[in-house]
Amino acid sequence: MAISNLLDCLCGSRKKSSSRAQTPVTRIQYEIEGKNLPESSGSQESIDSSSQFTKRKENNVEIREESRQETAPKLNRALVVASKGTYTLVDHPFPELAHDKEVIISNRATGLNPIDYKSVDYNFCLPEFPWVTGREMTGVVEAVGAGVTGFKIGDHVWTSTYYRDRRAGCFQSYVTVPVHTIFHLPSNLNFNAAACLGVAGLTAAMTLWRWLDVPLPTQTPSSTTTTDEYLLIWGGSTSTGQFAIQLALLSNLRVIAVTSSKTSSMVQSLGATTVIRDGKTNDEILSEILSITGDNITRAIDLGVSSPHWL
Ligand SMILES: NC(=O)c1ccc[n+]([C@@H]2O[C@H](COP(=O)([O-])OP(=O)(O)OC[C@H]3O[C@@H](n4cnc5c(N)ncnc54)[C@H](OP(=O)(O)O)[C@@H]3O)[C@@H](O)[C@H]2O)c1
Repeated sequence: MAISNLLDCLCGSRKKSSSRAQTPVTRIQYEIEGKNLPESSGSQESIDSSSQFTKRKENNVEIREESRQETAPKLNRALVVASKGTYTLVDHPFPELAHDKEVIISNRATGLNPIDYKSVDYNFCLPEFPWVTGREMTGVVEAVGAGVTGFKIGDHVWTSTYYRDRRAGCFQSYVTVPVHTIFHLPSNLNFNAAACLGVAGLTAAMTLWRWLDVPLPTQTPSSTTTTDEYLLIWGGSTSTGQFAIQLALLSNLRVIAVTSSKTSSMVQSLGATTVIRDGKTNDEILSEILSITGDNITRAIDLGVSSPHWL
């Protein structure tokens, strides 16, 4: 299943996202790979309509210009992690495209994930310092390279999990990514709701379809589960767990999920059977699980954010 279908499939799932703060911009000296050039800020959804900006063409690159900000230089405010535990807000120049298949997206909402701090604190998936982290976002196309097709300035788009380049980190006002990493926002999703569909959705999909050998869902899933096989999800209420439940059910598995009492009914509403863990030992939880599933658990995912085996 293509990730565009995953988006369509899972657009009911939700997670925390952080709308960009509207802060005054001050220029601070900072070097990022020599690639980033300046910008300014922006706007709520209401001023994103194409009628409110003009386009200028420069070196074969179309760049959006907001008529009300013609005199202000565009700066790119970024949350830079300079070393473990050292985060600073820095104003960079508006970014430059490195090749003609890139787009620059003006940030409207950013998804927050444990990996944002884990990659820094535990030193993985972070090429070097200083870096700009943040792995998923939604926004408005601000500039397109000459080789980009299918997207134009002003389009509402989504991108995620391209973290090989500081310019692609999502904790900044303008995010620069290759066009193959972006999708148009489905019409039923706003910026905030869509900003969190990347990391958790991709993790759930990779875990089930690649590592746990779950068959891909058919286009028309049956309304009744025909297998006795269970997927156990420890942490069914996590964003990743919510995606995993829905994908597993589409693949005709049964799901049993461990949750708190606060999130149990939400997880049940997604179609899983739940075991509440409040005040119980792991052995008690386990025997409760087995009393429901018998020996039919064939796959398991540990997503408990404070448990020792989290992904
Ligand atoms: N390797 C990867 O690519 C990857 C990608 C995404 C996530 N992850 C990992 O997956 C885990 C979940 O991430 P997420 O972003 O999906 O989490 P999240 O949305 O932040 O999950 C928060 C929920 O976790 C539940 N929780 C907390 N402690 C728990 C525990 N001990 N046991 C069971 N549930 C617990 C809480 O709900 P309750 O009220 O139900 O307790 C809480 O509401 C994290 O460890 C994260 O690092 C890994």
